[in-house]
Amino acid sequence: MYIGVDLGTSGVKLLLMDRSGKILNKVTRTYPISFPHPGWSEQDPLDWYGETLEGIRDLISDIDPKEIRGIGIAGQMHGLVMLDEHDEVIRPAILWNDGRTDKETDFLNNEIGTGRLAGLTGNIAFAGFTAPKILWIRNNEPDNFKNISRIMLPKDYLVYRLTGAFTSDYSDASGMLLMDVKNKCWSDGMLEICGITKDMLPELKDSFDVSGTVKADIAAELGLANDVKVVAGAGDNAAAAIGTGTVGEGRCNISLGTSGTIFVSGRNYAELNNNALHSFAHADGGYHIMGCMLSAASCNKWWMEDILNDKDFKQIQDNMTDLGNNNVFFLPYLMGERSPHNDPKVRSMFIGMSMDTSRVSMTQAVLEGVAYGMRDCLEVAREMDINITETTMCGGGAKSRVWRTIMANVLNIRVKTLVNDEGPALGGAILAAVGDNVFEDVISASQKIVEFGEVIEPDKEISERYDKGYEFYKKLYPSVKGLYA
Ligand code: XUL
Repeated sequence: MYIGVDLGTSGVKLLLMDRSGKILNKVTRTYPISFPHPGWSEQDPLDWYGETLEGIRDLISDIDPKEIRGIGIAGQMHGLVMLDEHDEVIRPAILWNDGRTDKETDFLNNEIGTGRLAGLTGNIAFAGFTAPKILWIRNNEPDNFKNISRIMLPKDYLVYRLTGAFTSDYSDASGMLLMDVKNKCWSDGMLEICGITKDMLPELKDSFDVSGTVKADIAAELGLANDVKVVAGAGDNAAAAIGTGTVGEGRCNISLGTSGTIFVSGRNYAELNNNALHSFAHADGGYHIMGCMLSAASCNKWWMEDILNDKDFKQIQDNMTDLGNNNVFFLPYLMGERSPHNDPKVRSMFIGMSMDTSRVSMTQAVLEGVAYGMRDCLEVAREMDINITETTMCGGGAKSRVWRTIMANVLNIRVKTLVNDEGPALGGAILAAVGDNVFEDVISASQKIVEFGEVIEPDKEISERYDKGYEFYKKLYPSVKGLYA
């Protein structure tokens, strides 16, 4: 059996899969996130590790732990974890949706220049990427910068604690802005710009390569055999792609988790002319392009739980019957926005309310605002002649049928549902099974294991109404961005 771990922002999700791809058990454990300033976000890597170990314990409590042969970890991308020479965490991790690095991002894009960055890495700087965060530490916390012995991504910290192996994989490392994505190696030029050396960075591997085995003391504590393999793992979006069948050439997956991403797989490195989307390596051995919204299902969670104080998401969504006729619009920029605007300072707003506006129409505007934001990313892909006609969907938001229907119609593409929408955790387990040679490769494993369910086709009338809505929505960001600059 194999354990897939999804080290997310709201918590860690673990799944137990047998060698045929059947899911036997699932466990979720949460940990806190802190927002020490508006637009900043941090977590304690020790919480990730502690909750993951507890999660594994729960996950395997009903089976013989000796049956576990491998672990694959998917993780929230871009986070900066720094260890000192004693392997102690230097400060809380700075997460993927943290917007503190606007000065460093401007320095990279404007002074180093987007052309040079794209030449070195295949991408430009976005506030949440790891390299600008390293520069922020250098500029703002020089004592911490001096103490850096190792720099790693969130899931690489778990792999390091579990096995002692200091590794990363190409898909996750792509998001550091330190890797030459096309050639899959660290970029000497970027290391020099950031003032760091190669020995501070992990060894790069394919996602399905074995990084090491679980350390003897941890194996003994959990009752595991002493040869449990831990593969290098993947960024959560690449792992979600494996877990949704988004492998090989030209397939699309949309993830509606804390972030919202649109992910298109490809066999070859994609050179992007405007770099508004990311061009990264995939966990299937190929490449992908991706757009990332910083707040997706988290917009709905914030609106329902923090503002309306209502946990009955379904009841309010059941009242959303008039799709495409909403006069209320919501900009989903609670943490600023990554793709395609690259603007950490912009914030959310509702617009268009009148005396007849109801809770339902405002809640619907939140779901629609996220779909319109996703359409912004899709339009960038369409401009590059990337033709997307259908997508799978995973993440918490994908559990809502109304939201899937809104997505299908706003994007005007077919939405395929999954029998198991465990995306990243399933992808992690599949990578572990491939690393243990149960399957020949990631693509065939994913194709064998992933099962599709209901298909939602866009409706002509509704999507035409949403086209009009999108024309309005598109004007909102240019109108407000100056207010925050
Ligand atoms: C992708 C990104 C997010 C995180 C969420 O670039 O930043 O999707 O990976 O965990």
